[in-house]
Amino acid sequence: MPASIAFTVNGRPVEVSAEPEDTLLDLLRNHLGLTGARFGCGAGQCGACAVIVDGELKAACHTEAGAIAGAKLTTVEALSASSPPHPLIAAFLEKQAGQCGFCLNGILVSASLLLERNREPSRAEIAEALDWHLCRCGAHNRILNAVELAASRLKEPA
Ligand code: FES
Ligand code: FES
Repeated sequence: MPASIAFTVNGRPVEVSAEPEDTLLDLLRNHLGLTGARFGCGAGQCGACAVIVDGELKAACHTEAGAIAGAKLTTVEALSASSPPHPLIAAFLEKQAGQCGFCLNGILVSASLLLERNREPSRAEIAEALDWHLCRCGAHNRILNAVELAASRLKEPA
């Protein structure tokens, strides 16, 4: 039987009717039209569906819908919706950090959380923070370059 689940996503309160078998990824993509989080492995192992739940990185494909009642979520859509957009967006474009792009939304979410916690991450710390994410195109070096560029811009005085 469906249950009503209320939570906040990108600062917006929402209420969704979820089936018991629904995952958080189902709610985001199928009920709320937030298609940035992607379905890759469906097993919590690739990072394509990464979102931030109450300040922690989660695999939306592996999070039960019922577990997020009352939670505050941030998805990749928040990075481009903010004004100005998060510096990661321009940095990934400038560094051509991706090929097919399938992995990138999850990586952007992880990178944004890293930069929130650590404004001056070393390359090794960026690599460690993104270790969960699989990029089958092998764009790793460019992705690291892009996160370094965004970090350097966040340090610049406004
Ligand atoms: S689709 Fe969720 S971790 Fe791979
Ligand atoms: S750019 Fe294709 S999987 Fe990463």
